[in-house]
Amino acid sequence: MSQGGRAPARARLLFASAWRRPAQLLSSAPGRVNLIGEHLDYNGGPVLPIAIDRRTAVAAAPARALRVVSEGRERVTVDPDAELRGHWSDYVVGAWRALARRGAAPAGARLAIASDVPAGAGLASSAALTVAVAHALARLAGRTLDAETLVDVAWEAEHDEVGVRCGRMDQTAAAHAVAGSALLYDPPSGERTLVPFDAPLWVIDTGVRHRLLAGHLNERRAECETALLQLRRRWPRLAQLGALGTRRLAEAERLLPAWLAPRVRHVVRETGRVHAMREALGRGDLGAAGALLFAGHRSLRDDFQSSCAAADQVVELAERHGALGARLTGAGWGGAVLVLPGPGEAGRLSGLGPALRAALGRAPAVWRVRPAGGVRAERIA
Ligand code: GLA
Repeated sequence: MSQGGRAPARARLLFASAWRRPAQLLSSAPGRVNLIGEHLDYNGGPVLPIAIDRRTAVAAAPARALRVVSEGRERVTVDPDAELRGHWSDYVVGAWRALARRGAAPAGARLAIASDVPAGAGLASSAALTVAVAHALARLAGRTLDAETLVDVAWEAEHDEVGVRCGRMDQTAAAHAVAGSALLYDPPSGERTLVPFDAPLWVIDTGVRHRLLAGHLNERRAECETALLQLRRRWPRLAQLGALGTRRLAEAERLLPAWLAPRVRHVVRETGRVHAMREALGRGDLGAAGALLFAGHRSLRDDFQSSCAAADQVVELAERHGALGARLTGAGWGGAVLVLPGPGEAGRLSGLGPALRAALGRAPAVWRVRPAGGVRAERIA
């Protein structure tokens, strides 16, 4: 964590120093780890994210134009009507535009942003940002949006405005999470169920940052859509790949070209792992939960091909040092690995630090994750 305390306190200080006046209000939203259910949200399958106790905070006050500053970056004045330019402030503009479409954007605003969610680490920093910005801007406009609308606004900002063809898992976690629980979310029905989660969980940041994530993610999504269109020749009413089911998998694999079949295999089996994880957690069976994490990682590595060498190494080392389970979390092509150490295993896992240093050539950031709550107004004083 950087100097100056946690993100909300730093956002408030940054506001005062950048804009030479106090902020009027403060909002924050969390990052997340996804326990299991990767690349399922945009394929109509269930996901099981956990919001983490690392947040992005936005301090705000009304202004005539839209002016933004973020920790470690320059101050910018953005024109919400101008074309987006591949700049970090695009996410802010995207959120403003999505609010404006609902008559819920202020005329202008000064914002200061601070975050404890590392960017590009697979921890949904962009959803934490867009949800927190949307919450703050709507409040400035005198509107209190419900969590569902915040999800829609944040998703439109990223999907429609910035152009990352993401699903709605990250925004849903950032808006709806409840402390102490994972959030089982089923995108086709919109159903959300809290799953109590109190096992220790660690995050190991590989330090590898996905560049051009939109490129990778959009490509995988297009591949899944191609597979769906091909499978609809056989099953015309198949709504999404997540609805295929294990019974039809073998036939589906035969119908698809060899390069495409593994993507569908991942979606079908990962869907099964989400349900199995929910049952394992319900029984308190951390051994079974851990095995599902390892299986999920192998599926990302071999079938969905969204892992990276450093994440594969971290998972392998965690397994060798006695973790119950580990897998790459989030979109992939870099990012963070989550590790389930299991009771009493923390001692043995302490050998993991030196092993990671030797393998990666540097000490990765490791921290314990505690399931946190979603977006909220922070006290300004
Ligand atoms: C990114 C996207 C999510 C989801 C994950 C992969 O985080 O924003 O919608 O698809 O990747 O599970």
